[in-house]
Amino acid sequence: MGSGDRVTGGALLARARAAAERRGVEEVAFELAFALERGCGVLGLPPGRLGPEEAGRLYEQLLATCSASRKALGAFYTPQPVARAIARRLLADVDAGGPVPRIIDPACGTGAFLLAAARALRRRGVSPRAIGCALWGIDRDAGALALCRAALRAEGIAVPRDHLLQQDALLAPWPRAHFDRILGNPPFVNIVRLPAPQRQALKARYRSFRNKCDLYGLFVEAGIDHLALGGRLSFILSDSFLGTDSFAPLRRLLFASEARRVRRIDRLAGATFGAKVRAVVLEVEARPPDAAVPVALGRIDAAGRVEAGHALPHAIFRRRAARSAALPEDARQLAWAEALEAEARPLSDFLELSLGVKTGDDGRFVSPRRRGRSARRCVRGRDVGPFSITDRCYIDYRPERLRAVHGARPRRPESFLRPMKLLLRETSGARLIAAVDTEARIPLDTLHALYPRAEGPNGRSLHGWCALLNSAPLCRWYALHHPGPHVKAGEVRRLPVPPPRPEPLSARLNALPALAAYLAGAPWHRDIEAAPEAVLDCLGRWMSGHRDPRGQAAIDRLCAKLYGV
Ligand SMILES: C[S@@+](CC[C@H](N)C(=O)[O-])C[C@H]1O[C@@H](n2cnc3c(N)ncnc32)[C@H](O)[C@@H]1O
Repeated sequence: MGSGDRVTGGALLARARAAAERRGVEEVAFELAFALERGCGVLGLPPGRLGPEEAGRLYEQLLATCSASRKALGAFYTPQPVARAIARRLLADVDAGGPVPRIIDPACGTGAFLLAAARALRRRGVSPRAIGCALWGIDRDAGALALCRAALRAEGIAVPRDHLLQQDALLAPWPRAHFDRILGNPPFVNIVRLPAPQRQALKARYRSFRNKCDLYGLFVEAGIDHLALGGRLSFILSDSFLGTDSFAPLRRLLFASEARRVRRIDRLAGATFGAKVRAVVLEVEARPPDAAVPVALGRIDAAGRVEAGHALPHAIFRRRAARSAALPEDARQLAWAEALEAEARPLSDFLELSLGVKTGDDGRFVSPRRRGRSARRCVRGRDVGPFSITDRCYIDYRPERLRAVHGARPRRPESFLRPMKLLLRETSGARLIAAVDTEARIPLDTLHALYPRAEGPNGRSLHGWCALLNSAPLCRWYALHHPGPHVKAGEVRRLPVPPPRPEPLSARLNALPALAAYLAGAPWHRDIEAAPEAVLDCLGRWMSGHRDPRGQAAIDRLCAKLYGV
């Protein structure tokens, strides 16, 4: 445990909390800033014991426990080793005698990146005075800004007063039109959490705005618009910007523009911002893309160690920007994904999707016992496994009543009562998990319900669709493109699926012997070649009654064949 951990230990935090309750969090931030700058004692700590990183961490903990603003501000500060690795790389070409780049962190918080940049410049022989003149920072939070200024002062760097600004970096003008280096960790805050007037203002201003996008995406747009020619930006972002629909306009700005090139994308070690956040470090340069310069992919660990990975041509990201620019492990994985997509069509061409029922208050509507005439069997995400459903609850399902409850949505009652539907878990994460419901259960909102647009001799049966969704090729494709914890409706609609193939009736009659051949591990059987849809249907039915690994292996083989991979 380092001295920093001792400083921010339980007793100090308790004293800081008590002070924040009496005087407010911001006031405590000013006291910490004063102590940091002057080297004097604070909150019972002897003089000189508080360092900049510890002060930042203490303030972050205070925001988390004493104020509602941490989530609204996205105030999750970057550990110094990670900020240091990013700043050193971005400033590696600075010469002591040459011009000093103008640097800004537009969401600087307590100054992790500005401090790291100052230290990196000092290592390269730049004088403290020149460093102070080269740094700018913006943040909405006055307490964080005070700590940022004090941290730099404690480092011997005096930044002019008008270089550190308390304002909204997305709506107020930046202190200069262009910067040579832009770096930081912009806030991860979903747009839907913002007040309506702020959302409207952002919508009017940003090309990459979408109703479900995130503030960090808008910071990227603001950043690239403020880059001087040849300048570079490096931001920590959530990796969802590479895969989700709402970031497609941002991906186009990054990958399909003649004005800039993405130089690298590094995965950040899992533990940096907690287990739920999958972060990457993006580096963009304001220069036209060059076919000879690929996008480098690598990794930065929690200690700031940078590990080089493989590189992929810029053209691949450009080509894929509209749908998903997920990061493959290597070029072969990407070639595989592209081959799989070649013949495929979006799932929404064949199946329609409905979200499950939202009650607004499950405790009131869902119970383990059947109560009253309107009670119907219902199913939650966790009740659905691959090919199987084990429901244990009933829902008081009166759509008119649900409609009257705040936050509830009964959603498509008529379709839920149809005899067959496919249920897909919304919370399964990196793997797709689906089962066929033949008992008209009501799905809750941790499930997607899917219905065929057309079924029959020329269509794929619901069991066939179920087998396809649970198959290894589709799950692998899904994990590559959408690694997040939730399976979103838009992602489901876009899943690449092979079109169902019309099959002659005689081939359908061969399905059972073909299934037997499959399960016996026989090599490709001519019946299977002739009637893959019928066999898929058969396997899907078989698996809904049996947990048979041979059946799953057969489905995986058959689906690989259907995809032509
Ligand atoms: C994830 S923290 C990063 C802080 C710092 N760059 C670091 O890496 O430690 C995001 C910061 O953005 C600030 N912030 C949130 N919305 C902002 C906005 N619209 N304009 C400027 N700063 C904002 C928050 O106050 C917070 O300090």
